Amino acid sequence: MALNSGLPPGVGPYYENHGYQPESLYPPQPAVAARAFSVYPAHYYPPAVPHYTPRVLTSTSTPAIRTQPKSPSGTPCTSKTKKALCISAALVTVLAGAVVAAVLLWKFTENKCTVSGMECGSSGTCVSASHWCDGILHCPRGEDENQCVRLYGPNFILQVYSFQRKSWHPVCLDDWTESYGRAACQDMGYRNSFYSSQGIADDSGATSFMKLNISAGHTDLYKKLYHSDVCSSKNVVSLRCIECGVNRRMGRQSRIVGGTSAAPGDWPWQVSLQVQGVHVCGGSIITPEWIVTAAHCVEEPLNNPRYWTAFAGILRQYLMTYEHGYRVEKVISHPNYDSKTKNNDIALMKLQTPLTFNDKVKPVCLPNPGLRLEPKQPCWISGWGATYEKGKTSDELNAVMVPLIDPVQCNSRYVYNNLITPTMICAGYLQGTMDSCQGDSGGPLVTLKSSVWWLIGDTSWGSGCAKANRPGVYGNVTVFTDWIHRQMRANS
Ligand code: ARG
Repeated sequence: MALNSGLPPGVGPYYENHGYQPESLYPPQPAVAARAFSVYPAHYYPPAVPHYTPRVLTSTSTPAIRTQPKSPSGTPCTSKTKKALCISAALVTVLAGAVVAAVLLWKFTENKCTVSGMECGSSGTCVSASHWCDGILHCPRGEDENQCVRLYGPNFILQVYSFQRKSWHPVCLDDWTESYGRAACQDMGYRNSFYSSQGIADDSGATSFMKLNISAGHTDLYKKLYHSDVCSSKNVVSLRCIECGVNRRMGRQSRIVGGTSAAPGDWPWQVSLQVQGVHVCGGSIITPEWIVTAAHCVEEPLNNPRYWTAFAGILRQYLMTYEHGYRVEKVISHPNYDSKTKNNDIALMKLQTPLTFNDKVKPVCLPNPGLRLEPKQPCWISGWGATYEKGKTSDELNAVMVPLIDPVQCNSRYVYNNLITPTMICAGYLQGTMDSCQGDSGGPLVTLKSSVWWLIGDTSWGSGCAKANRPGVYGNVTVFTDWIHRQMRANS
């Protein structure tokens, strides 16, 4: 968190966009690497920043072979028979090379679904993510069309995708029971987690609904649903899979405007993600076992879960050394994350053992589509990041209010000159003064709406910290909600 960095304007305008990373894990880099890009003035931006100076190979190239390989008898490949022997030896080498290449290729294509989309069950067939719930069966067993469910808007209205009508429809409360709610939560990746399933008056103005056909013999909820223009209860299903987005400070947030250290329970979803006892990035709890963070925090070699420990419910870094952290079982980075442009800068961590929720440890809500935020929606960022540009990690957890910034304005020539993609969201102040900073990455950008705290962003990048016209840039979590649910479902 950087509050009034106090640096003279124009000092060190450079693009510092890499995660805060413990140096011991990395080979020393030329000092120029972190300052490879001058970001001032804005129109000098290269098309894709941030960017790292390519590492120069320091080892000398393979020297030219001067001596001929010796044949078993010790004579070089000169005579006719020796030549034949040499050729066959060469052939064997080429063949062995081909086998190795084939194995590598197979290894690579084995994971092709993570690059090109989703796998149909465990069939090995890949279907591009845009084909899920599109009404056309792509998977051999129809997996791409049978779990098309989402929660919509601030009231968590359960909607099901109708492939006949190519649109989402709320589920009518008629004949609904809690056990269907539990089933829908499971399908969204909430293993054994269910909070409430209630009827509410539909405020979306829907004219057609999905209704339950309770006489249908199927066990699958989706096969029981059919399209209907009448819903006699005039109520739709509002489904919550986890009690999320509540904090101790509910309704008293105004007290910390201006940025201060946090009190216990203020930001109970905030975690410190550490490597070898050093705070590296922030993260947000979304379920007892899942943490949202930034993809740039888990770039190789930090994509290995063994490196990471998560600390929850502790405000001061020094106290974490005395506590046991939570080991990480899996690290899932967004398949389309681009380390140069920071497009799709989001990742998930699955913990080895679930967190126990209490006053200080609680999940934040994933943003539902249809949340409708104000153009300058007040949001909060929190973290142990530096309190001024180039500063060191803070011992105390800090938080500050930052309003959202219109993407058009954030992309203007004087701000980030078209570096902001739809997977990013800007928040902060164009005059500078308050911002996230190095070490806050991966941590939450949250907002309070309809008495619920929603995870709107994950701290991603910025040019310097708290500088004028260089606000913080966050991963736009709303566009990732569906991806997150799919990962949770596939890895539960
Ligand atoms: N990339 C930084 C990190 O790894 C976060 C930078 C945020 N910068 C900003 N000006 N808001 O911690």
